[in-house]
Amino acid sequence: MKNNLTIRLQKTLDQRKQNDLFRSINPSQGIRLNLSSNDYLNLRTHPEVIRASQIAAEIYGTGSGASPLLTGFGPLHQQLLKSLQRWIGKNSGLLFNSGFMANQALIHHLPGPKDLILTDRLIHHSLAQALGHKDRLFHRFQHNDLDHLESLLEKNKKDFDTVFVITESLYSMEGDSPDLVRLAELKKRYGFFWILDEAHALGVYGPNGEGLAKETGVLEHVDIFIGTLGKTLASMGAFIMTDSREVTDYLTNFAGELIYSTFIPPTVAGAALAALDQVQASRQSAEDLRLLSKNFRNQLSETGHKTIAGDSPIIPVILEEPDQVLKIQEQLLEVGIAVAAVRPPTVPQGASRLRLSLHTGVDATNLDEFLDVVNQCGVL
Ligand SMILES: Cc1ncc(COP(=O)(O)O)c(C=O)c1O
Repeated sequence: MKNNLTIRLQKTLDQRKQNDLFRSINPSQGIRLNLSSNDYLNLRTHPEVIRASQIAAEIYGTGSGASPLLTGFGPLHQQLLKSLQRWIGKNSGLLFNSGFMANQALIHHLPGPKDLILTDRLIHHSLAQALGHKDRLFHRFQHNDLDHLESLLEKNKKDFDTVFVITESLYSMEGDSPDLVRLAELKKRYGFFWILDEAHALGVYGPNGEGLAKETGVLEHVDIFIGTLGKTLASMGAFIMTDSREVTDYLTNFAGELIYSTFIPPTVAGAALAALDQVQASRQSAEDLRLLSKNFRNQLSETGHKTIAGDSPIIPVILEEPDQVLKIQEQLLEVGIAVAAVRPPTVPQGASRLRLSLHTGVDATNLDEFLDVVNQCGVL
């Protein structure tokens, strides 16, 4: 039935359709080559990870049954939290139901009205959406432009109680990274509070898969480390790690995102624990993945495709117009290859792209096949 609300909603949706920006959720089936998953080490189907989830169900049941402050936080959750804490090497941590909820909780509850937030312009939506919260004062610096960040720090250094700087270590749509060593130096000079989202770097970088802060030697300077369980850790949920007990106690007392939501199922915690063991045992596979990515980026550039240099498993192939990426995505799907077609508003206007996520089950032949289909599309 049409009413004022549905008419207004439909009008906005029609505009999206006209601009090739309409989104819909479709079952992922008939895929033989998945280049659109964040399961970088291919652990979702690892027999030991599956078995750990089954054992957890047999012992603790399928769901957690309650929020963490009631009875939802069980022995497996505690074991997972302790293992993650040991892995990342911070004194205090919390589990959240998702990275989105963790990021919302941090931005909603930690900065106060006398604080300033400085974020990269391309920060993930789970962080960006919370910036609009009342009383939040924020500025964005140009993507990975630490000169710009420094000028904002210099300009604002005396006016605020706390300056928060929020970055990712590996940007989810660009597959690139800021200079973390320089960020740590800026922190030493300006004394800001650094929140680092390592969602996509976890498992791929670091001597034991702890991420890019560890790999670049700056982890001790990170005030809040965010990791997710739904990507390389093959399950679902997220964690934050910090050396400030005040932060975790405060969120436990005030963050509705944590307090008022049924907690991660024990089956999921069991899977994440088993995946954590596998991450540490898969360092050579992670190295190989980075080499594959680097080589394929070179191949893309040499064949005239626009991409961004680096060695992360996230590879953008930038095409500009949304209809181009949709057409290629469709053709790829016809031959069983899944690739994300990323369009505005997820990325800026004129920067629509295919976003490839490589994983350890992909090889150079698979990528040649992808490129053949792309080249045959006649869109470029
Ligand atoms: C950088 C970053 N942070 C946080 C999230 C949210 O994590 P989750 O999928 O666990 O909600 C994502 C999701 O893709 C992400 O890319």
